[in-house]
Amino acid sequence: KKYYTEEYRPQFHFSPEKNWMNDPNGMVYYEGEYHLFYQHNPHGTEWGPMYWGHAISKDMIEWEHRPIALEPDELGTIFSGSAVVDWNDTSGFFDGGHGLVAIFTHNGEGQKQSIAYSKDKGRTWEKYEGNPVIPSDPDIRDFRDPKVLWHDKTEKWVMALAAGKKIMFYGSDNLIDWEFLSEFGEGAGAQGGVWECPDLFELPIDGDPNNTKWVLQVDIGDGAIAGGSGAQYFIGEFDGTSFVSDDNPEDINWLDYGADFYAAQSFSDIPSEDGRRIMIAWMNNWLYANRIPTEEWRGAASFPRVIELKTSKKGDIKVFQKPIKELDTITKTELFKIENQVVKASDIPNILEDVEADVFQLTAEIVMEEPVNFGFKVRKSEEEGEETVIGYSHSEQELFVKRTQSDDDYFSPYFNGRHTVSIEDENIIKIHILVDKSSIEVFAQNGEFVITDLIFPSGKSKGLEFYVENGEVLINSLEIKSLQSIWKK
Ligand code: FRU
Repeated sequence: KKYYTEEYRPQFHFSPEKNWMNDPNGMVYYEGEYHLFYQHNPHGTEWGPMYWGHAISKDMIEWEHRPIALEPDELGTIFSGSAVVDWNDTSGFFDGGHGLVAIFTHNGEGQKQSIAYSKDKGRTWEKYEGNPVIPSDPDIRDFRDPKVLWHDKTEKWVMALAAGKKIMFYGSDNLIDWEFLSEFGEGAGAQGGVWECPDLFELPIDGDPNNTKWVLQVDIGDGAIAGGSGAQYFIGEFDGTSFVSDDNPEDINWLDYGADFYAAQSFSDIPSEDGRRIMIAWMNNWLYANRIPTEEWRGAASFPRVIELKTSKKGDIKVFQKPIKELDTITKTELFKIENQVVKASDIPNILEDVEADVFQLTAEIVMEEPVNFGFKVRKSEEEGEETVIGYSHSEQELFVKRTQSDDDYFSPYFNGRHTVSIEDENIIKIHILVDKSSIEVFAQNGEFVITDLIFPSGKSKGLEFYVENGEVLINSLEIKSLQSIWKK
């Protein structure tokens, strides 16, 4: 088994063994295994001819690299898409049994949608001989990233497809013959770049199965909240034909306020006993994805998160996110723990002075009894001049991640920055931070607000700090635990 020790190699996030990766693709659970396919260039560490790389996991934590699943052919290279279990052999590929069907974009002369099937639990794939199943349209240049789901009420397959700055919906009885249903997007949400990688699913509100809404997740190639590419979502109704959003057209819902959460996709076919909607994104940004300072491989997946709909404090329905509970299986040594402690701006040294960690999680609940700015610095070294700040500014009423001193070597003008999300009228900040060799994911207020950012500090930067800028805070609880490498389990 491989032990990955290269500089910046994620220790509890999926990354390819070698070479380039972008979007997660074909995420599906089948017969006890989670499948993660991904946009992969096996010939180099920059984006190039696209294949589907493949990995399998039993718990979404420990991944086994598998041989390439789909290769380019005379119709083109293999762009993003999804996979489903065809339980009732609607396609006729499985001799009355069941198996996996992948639905993807062929990028060649135009972009067209094709399918492939596997009769051996995803180990080998056969492309359908009648490909493409949806031909390219000369009027639509960007026509890609099919995400397919089974729509129970109308008993058919539904595909959400990104087309320019719109989503087109198609329906099918057999995954082969597709009929156009409707489109969504005119003037809706963020329009700063082309729409890519949609996802569509139904979720209970506040856990009530009798009260549900549909979420249409849409990624945008440019002009997202932290600059460059990012993920937005719409909440509304989907009746099997068309999606109607409840949002005001001028409101934009961002799934993540950091710079590095893109092309998010959720697993298909997670059993209803489990019931979770679990999402993984490409932890990167097209502004600098080809330049990030890794050598053997380039690109990684976000840590899997559970997506839920909840009523926010303001009374509107929002997506809430949290790391999957399987994280507990790699949570190791407790490095620090306090409860009920007042910390003042003047306290020297800072309470985390003696803690060293580079792969860990931090959970905290902090009470502001007066207007105060406070936060954490992680992956810090005075000698290296490095730190990543996760702070709450009472004066600005915002949570932020500042990564202006988070990289060892300058590699892109777009990388440095401070990413914020407004959190207003709160006196308690609850935070869950995941820190890896080259990333940080910050979940605040029970997951209502999330910031995901890449960082590239030197391996020596392992210091931590808790700061209070003025006044004092009450730390209800603060706990730091190291996380174990998934490659060494
Ligand atoms: C999103 C994307 C998709 C496309 C793929 C190509 O990052 O641009 O729209 O299918 O990457 O690799």
